[in-house]
Amino acid sequence: MKPKVLVTRKFFPELVVRLQEHFEVDDHASNEALDPVELKARLADKAGVLLSVADPLTAESIAAAPQLRAACNVGVGYNNIDVAACTRAGIMVTNTPDVLTETTADLTWALLMAVSRRLPMAERWLREGHWGAWRYDLWLGTDVHHATLGIFGMGRIGQALARRAAGFGMKTIYHNRARLPADIEAQHNATWVDKETLLREADFVVLLLPYSPVVQHYIGAAELSLMKPTAHLVNVARGGIVDDAALITALRERRICGAGVDVFEGEPKFNPDFLALDNVVLTPHIGSASYQARMAMGMRAVDNLIEALTGKRPRDCVNS
Ligand code: DGY
Repeated sequence: MKPKVLVTRKFFPELVVRLQEHFEVDDHASNEALDPVELKARLADKAGVLLSVADPLTAESIAAAPQLRAACNVGVGYNNIDVAACTRAGIMVTNTPDVLTETTADLTWALLMAVSRRLPMAERWLREGHWGAWRYDLWLGTDVHHATLGIFGMGRIGQALARRAAGFGMKTIYHNRARLPADIEAQHNATWVDKETLLREADFVVLLLPYSPVVQHYIGAAELSLMKPTAHLVNVARGGIVDDAALITALRERRICGAGVDVFEGEPKFNPDFLALDNVVLTPHIGSASYQARMAMGMRAVDNLIEALTGKRPRDCVNS
């Protein structure tokens, strides 16, 4: 008899076909999350679960899943899963690093460029028929080339962003709790600075750090007040790392120049006051959303699930 697995979202059909070669698959096949009661009921007889970063796996649902041995996230972040509770219950947790690095760095770069050169705002204005005459000061933006890029979270994606910045002649500074080895710093021409120095010196402050409760509101009113009035903030990490209400105030009062925001507190709901601002570019958590990356992420999560349920330790196991 094949082990039973749950698929919590509508992923590409290729993933389900591959899973069916190994498992009896209970495919939710919907873009809507299972509600907690139904999730618990459907996990009750499952050995594995393939889930999205928007599906919470709490201690309570874990307690309702006595046969569960593997929880495989389609995503590099895994703050939706109570990993400590999984570890206590003997459940392997996996994520999908590497395969989305360059794609997410591309989106980060696109947001940075879009907000600094005000592309969506200018495009909207053109579509609305406002373009009457050539103007010397039409839709002036801020230079990206040769500016200072400040990265919070210089992991894989941060380093991929630094490679893009090098092509634009930028100076890269970064802040991690632990400094990178000297050869990696040299490779990216990147300098470690403390948090306050990064906020004061960067023209573009980019957040790429993983979420944990420790970094809840890592960027709030106090941090935003240290930034240059000409600087931009880009958040592609996780909602909650930035205090969105404080960011909205800083943008409204022009205490910073602009922001690119891909992740929000409480998403898919978000603070509607963002919509009244003309100096922010908003995207709906699409950092890794290319066809190629999403396929690779899905397949990697499937590999992890197969490995976990055939007695191997999956290569992306994150339990400590
Ligand atoms: C991730 O992988 O963590 C992204 O946020 C979603 O793809």
